[in-house]
Order: sequence, then structure tokens, then C-alpha cells
Amino acid sequence: MAARPVVLVTRMIPEAGLALLRQRCDLRLGPDDRPMTREELLAGAAEAKWVLGQLVDRIDAAFFDAAPRLRGYANYAVGFDNIDVAEATRRGIPVCNTPDVLTVATAEMAWALVFAVARRVAETDTLLRRGIWPAWGPFTFLGQEITGKTLGIYGPGRIGTAMARMSRGFSMPVVYTGGRRPNEALEKELGARRLPFEEFLEAADIVSIHAPLTPETRHAFDAAAFARMKPTAILVNTGRGPIVDEAALTAALAAGRIAGAGLDVFEVEAPLPESLTSLQNIVITPHIGSATQTARDGMATLAARNLLAMLTGGRPPSCLNPEVLEPGA
Ligand code: GLV
Ligand code: GLV
Repeated sequence: MAARPVVLVTRMIPEAGLALLRQRCDLRLGPDDRPMTREELLAGAAEAKWVLGQLVDRIDAAFFDAAPRLRGYANYAVGFDNIDVAEATRRGIPVCNTPDVLTVATAEMAWALVFAVARRVAETDTLLRRGIWPAWGPFTFLGQEITGKTLGIYGPGRIGTAMARMSRGFSMPVVYTGGRRPNEALEKELGARRLPFEEFLEAADIVSIHAPLTPETRHAFDAAAFARMKPTAILVNTGRGPIVDEAALTAALAAGRIAGAGLDVFEVEAPLPESLTSLQNIVITPHIGSATQTARDGMATLAARNLLAMLTGGRPPSCLNPEVLEPGA
């Protein structure tokens, strides 16, 4: 009997995915429930043909050099800025991601942040936990209503589209920017208008970021962008931190240049600078956009299906460089 293929799973994922893989493969799991260090990842890669990894695992030329036998990589994430896809393609290695299964979870998280900022949920929660009960008052903790405001979607892909669709209950005009071509679903269903970036910034009351991190989107939200936004605007980022110039955002929020921000992602995902955490007009969460059991089971299952398809010579449901797959696969 042929040896069962060995899959390196760099960190524990939900059982739904592991169970699928175990039917055909032997698993090597990363140590404990933590990300692998760079050294552990490169050492683990030495013998690996198949790897299922996390968004903190850098899958770049050095990784591929350390993994001479690698035949396929499955990311446990939709975002793939951790993967050098061009390098994988040059080396003929298919790489996969997990779209769709986390779309609802992430779009709902964006809404959670919109309302938390608009209605000062975190700020007032913190006061009460500190034992402070502010007296009810006609002018205390005034926030903003969302109904009827203009929603701006930066990056009208799957998640941006889902977030926009969820606005229907709030009767919001929708504007969007980016995307290679017009988003017909958004335009037909919601009458959304596609605008150049600068006009988009001027039009939106809520700006929600859903673009992938690329050289074009890195620091797209800089001081000049904040200067164009409405002083009442709320920025929400559930995409990738470096799309926003965080120093410029901090300055804009401190100066009241925009009204507030809800951030699930950061330029550096580690304890945050006090310049940011001391601001009252922000709500911050630790990259939990896809953190629902439903989404995580879906990601585990899809990552496993991608891997199983690669190792049986089939067509993975979500391959980022299908041109390297065997013809006919
Ligand atoms: C999470 O950020 C993902 O890209 O799946
Ligand atoms: C992610 O799935 C996106 O396309 O927005």
C-alpha cells in the first residue's frame, strides 16, 4: 500500500477540516495552539509536500527554498498577502485560499464596528466597567444615526458586496470605489454608484474597507484621504491594516478631522501604540472578522478540500494560480 501523504498543518484548525484530511493523509500539527515561529515553519517545510498554513505564515521565496519537495499550499484565510503568488507560480506550486465561507461573518463584523462607533458602545461600556455611572442627560453620549446615511464600500468584492447588501434595512445610498470592473449586482440591486477614489471619500458617511492588501491599496488611506472625508465620517477596517496609514489616521482622529473609526486590523498586529488606544472615538478588536464557528468550520473544510484536490490531482475549489495545475485537472 502506498504511504499516506503527510500534510503539515502549521496550527490547529477546527476538527471539520482535520477530519476530512485524516481520511486520506497523516497530519503533522504545529506545536501547541500558537503560530509557528519562522524557524519552526522553515524546519517543518524541509520534508513537506503539502502544507496547510495560517495568514501569519510567510509563504515566500525563502519558504519555497526551505521546502524543496513542496507540491501545494492551502491558506487558512481568504486574504493572501502572506503568499508570494507570483513566486509560487514560477515554481509551479499551486496555492489556495478560503473565499466565500467567511464573507457573512466579516461583513457582519464591519456592521458591528459601524454601530459600536456610531453609538459609542465601547466607550460607554468601559466607563461602566470602571464603576462610573454617568447620569442620564439630554446631551450625554450623543452619537450618530446610520439610517439614510451614505455607505461607502472600498473594494467591492465578495465581502464588500455582502456588507452593502446588509444596508438595505437602513435605506442607505451606496457608493463604491475600486474593483477591476463595475459591480453590476451592487448597481442593479442597490443603485450603487461607482466613483473615483477622491469623490468617493467626499460622498461617504461610512467608509468600509474590503479591498485586498496590494501595492496599490497599501496606505491608500493617508492624510490626504482623511482631509477629503467628511468631518462626521466613520471609517471601518475589517480588511488589512496597512491599507490605512495608521499614524495619519491617529492624527486625523485626534484632531477630529473625521468622527471615528472601527478597526479590526492594524499595521502591526501586536500590542497597539498608546497614541491609538488612548483615542476615545475608536473601537478596536483583534482581527476577529472571520471568528465565528460557522466561518471557521467553513474555512477549515475549504482549506482541507483545496489540499485534498491538489494531492489527488484534481481541481481545488479555490486556487489562486490555477495555471500551474495539470491540464485536465
Ligand atoms: C482573514 O483576515 C482572512 O484573510 O481570512
Ligand atoms: C473577499 O472574499 C472579497 O472578495 O471581498
